[in-house]
Amino acid sequence: MKKLFVKTYGCQMNVYDSDRMTEALELSGYAPAASPADADMILLNTCHIREKAAEKLFSDLGRLAPLKARKRRDGGKLVVAVAGCVAQAEGAEILRRAKTVDVVVGPQSYHRLPALVEAAENGERPVETEFPAESKFDQLPERGRAGVSAFLSIQEGCDKFCTFCVVPYTRGAEFSRPAQAVLDEARDLIARGARELTLLGQNVNAYHGAAADGGVWRLGRLIRALAAMPGLLRLRYTTSHPADMDDALIAVHGDEPKLMPFLHLPVQSGSDRVLQAMNRRHRADDYRRTIDRLRVARPDIALSSDFIVGFPGESDDDFAATLALVRGVGFAQAFSFKYSPRPGTPAAVRDDQVPEPVKVERLAVLQALLNEQQARFNGGFVGRSVDVLFEKRGRHPGQLAGRSPWLQAIHAAAPDARLGSVATVRVATVEPNSLAAVLAEEAA
Ligand code: 5AD
Ligand code: SF4
Repeated sequence: MKKLFVKTYGCQMNVYDSDRMTEALELSGYAPAASPADADMILLNTCHIREKAAEKLFSDLGRLAPLKARKRRDGGKLVVAVAGCVAQAEGAEILRRAKTVDVVVGPQSYHRLPALVEAAENGERPVETEFPAESKFDQLPERGRAGVSAFLSIQEGCDKFCTFCVVPYTRGAEFSRPAQAVLDEARDLIARGARELTLLGQNVNAYHGAAADGGVWRLGRLIRALAAMPGLLRLRYTTSHPADMDDALIAVHGDEPKLMPFLHLPVQSGSDRVLQAMNRRHRADDYRRTIDRLRVARPDIALSSDFIVGFPGESDDDFAATLALVRGVGFAQAFSFKYSPRPGTPAAVRDDQVPEPVKVERLAVLQALLNEQQARFNGGFVGRSVDVLFEKRGRHPGQLAGRSPWLQAIHAAAPDARLGSVATVRVATVEPNSLAAVLAEEAA
């Protein structure tokens, strides 16, 4: 049997896409390879959002060249495919620059991957970066295995055009899957063992899927329908835009217990001037009001966010406004990045770029504050009872690992029979990346 090795860069959308591509290739006779050296095919699923993604890809590809040469010397073959947002952005340029590459496939064409790989096995070097008329979701094979916690992609692309972001260019226009297709995939995942679903989309709360009743469902409505499914214990969704937090979605946080009390809601900056230059379509106070309303609906909700420091033109005062917003809201965790100019985006050509040392300094200050908030949030759980959905074996024998409602990683000594179910545990200590706990019945 032929073997496939997949390397995934970037976001959860890519993790989901890698799974779907793997499933499609399994049907064409590929089994998972333990390492690149064992593989007959290597798939690199790339990300273009920050940093020098293309450079990283080409250096990884450079390392694959000797592997490919060795395979050929031994009379074998190694197919190298590049997928994801760098594939979309660079297209045929990748084939020109890297002789190792046989297939380039953009995110909208993954259903064509088995045919492209077959062409590559016959010596062609196909490139597919169109936005085809047919939807890949209708063409990809049904889901195979499912973990206890599974991703479900419901929306792709983005029409927001934040001035720093490549997503509208690499992933294309906003597209929502029909509600029925989402419900069918959810039912299937639950039947295969999923107990928690995380709904995915670049702009997931812009969801507006055609429904069987002839109407259009927004995310709040979809969540209600999913929550009614027997066997499903938990729901989450990511990533959201503040301007799309509509009333129905906020309400469902208050009255649907399966929807977990944790929300990743990127704000990027606390300065109205910067938010406007980013084309974010809301002010800092709009964000604060949304958070207040979420907290009224669901008092124990915890927040996560993304921040960019050093956006072109960001002054000391603008940065101070970001710190003030962080202090005011209080985040359980967050991601923060130095602004990185992305070719083809409006902000990249501004002539008021912030010097690198200023970005470094601001990032350190912001991260210190966010880390302090995260430590305070996690520290508050010591001695408390929390629910954990056990997803997998832990690092040590006899341990299971899972997540709290607030997405904290938790491990505790527990029998395998507990996998896939929610248990109450007492938190003992906070470790760097997780909480150590004991089953409540044993702690009593
Ligand atoms: N520079 C820095 N960070 C960026 N992000 C997106 N584009 C850029 C960029 N050009 C960050 C945003 C977004 C997250 C996924 O990545 O914070 O929310
Ligand atoms: Fe990018 Fe998100 Fe803005 Fe869309 S809403 S352009 S994905 S940052």
